[in-house]
Amino acid sequence: MGKIGTNMLASKRILLIIGGGIAAYKTLDLIRRLRERGAAVTPVMTSAAEEFVTPLSVSALAGERVFRHLFDLTDEAEMGHIQLSRSADLVVVAPATADLMGKMAAGLANDLASTLLMATDTPVLLAPAMNVRMWEHPATRRNHDQLAADGIRFVGPNDGDMACGEFGPGRMAEPMEILAAIETALGDGPLSGRRILVTSGPTHEPIDPVRYIANRSSGAQGTAVARALAALGAEVVFITGPASVPPPQGVQVVPVESAREMDAAVDAALPVDAGVFAAAVADWRVASASDRKLKKSKDGLPVLEFAENPDILKRVSRLEAGRPRLVVGFAAETNDVVEHATAKRLRKGCDWIVANDVSPATGIMGGSENAVILISDEGAEEWPRMGKDQVAEKLALRIAEALGG
Ligand SMILES: Cc1cc2nc3c(=O)[nH]c(=O)nc-3n(C[C@H](O)[C@H](O)[C@H](O)COP(=O)(O)O)c2cc1C
Repeated sequence: MGKIGTNMLASKRILLIIGGGIAAYKTLDLIRRLRERGAAVTPVMTSAAEEFVTPLSVSALAGERVFRHLFDLTDEAEMGHIQLSRSADLVVVAPATADLMGKMAAGLANDLASTLLMATDTPVLLAPAMNVRMWEHPATRRNHDQLAADGIRFVGPNDGDMACGEFGPGRMAEPMEILAAIETALGDGPLSGRRILVTSGPTHEPIDPVRYIANRSSGAQGTAVARALAALGAEVVFITGPASVPPPQGVQVVPVESAREMDAAVDAALPVDAGVFAAAVADWRVASASDRKLKKSKDGLPVLEFAENPDILKRVSRLEAGRPRLVVGFAAETNDVVEHATAKRLRKGCDWIVANDVSPATGIMGGSENAVILISDEGAEEWPRMGKDQVAEKLALRIAEALGG
């Protein structure tokens, strides 16, 4: 298993195909980071990619020549396209354009990049990047599903602000995330061999068969954490209430509705190396939920009595046998965040609390950004406001360190 900060990529060769998207500039950083870790990078650029970054920058950073043209006799004399396609431990496409995904899904091979992708017998990892409408287009959905079924791996895209001024899924994963996905694809993620449980989303507490009490949690942060942990190679059990964002790929999804169902699913998922409890679990349920729809009545309004739900975080934190080595809770507060979250950590007995201020003015609950404070036995560490994906990535790396990544 790899360790963060060591040369797990040393002596690996990456065939890096750069597609024609704005995010190509981030690929320059990826090349630098791969090289820093001792990987060799063979760069290939599409013609469109050359509109965004220059072959000169790419070859200078890679320390190797850039392959650009299929019908370049010099290339064929030096290294034929078939040989090139098989020369690496992993083929990475970053940014993977809608166009490249479409070609791959359809089996087209009309330039060097697409021909290499058809000819290769090495694993392929795509880091898609495109406008949100392009990503959500039914054709891209189909191509994505086809490629996933063909065994192609994906990292990202993330939600976020895009160069085109729009917002949503389509932003290329950050270089560090792609790096982690490369390590995982090479079977060497810092969390490979670790089993981690993540709870996410709201719970629905029934009043009767058609009504329920819920909260505004979208599940975005828990989903991002599960994705980031999986990207580092963890086996993730993702227990989710009815969230408004889809679950990530590559995790075991356990859908639940109520707090009590979540509690039972957590129990069934143990033992795990770490548990991340990001779900917004309802504190109370309706004590005697009706099994028939409540009707209007002349006798007055219904009165709901509440009962306390199981405290999942506390229960797991205080397990005598089989407690995960690391238990991470989340605290959504609207005032005195550090004080309340510090008290919560002690009350529950968990190792870390990821605290955030969810007062409506912050736009955090249901939004795409988060400003968190990590509370541990070392005190409170404030992280700058960043995307929920970046919070997740940073937290996943911390978890990997804590588990001895
Ligand atoms: C300014 C600009 C930005 C673009 N950004 C993207 C992008 O992020 N993702 C994408 O799929 N296509 C993007 N395109 C369109 C591609 O460049 C175009 O589909 C091209 O044919 C892709 O070629 P390739 O797949 O061979 O690299 C962009 C085009 C322009 C003019």
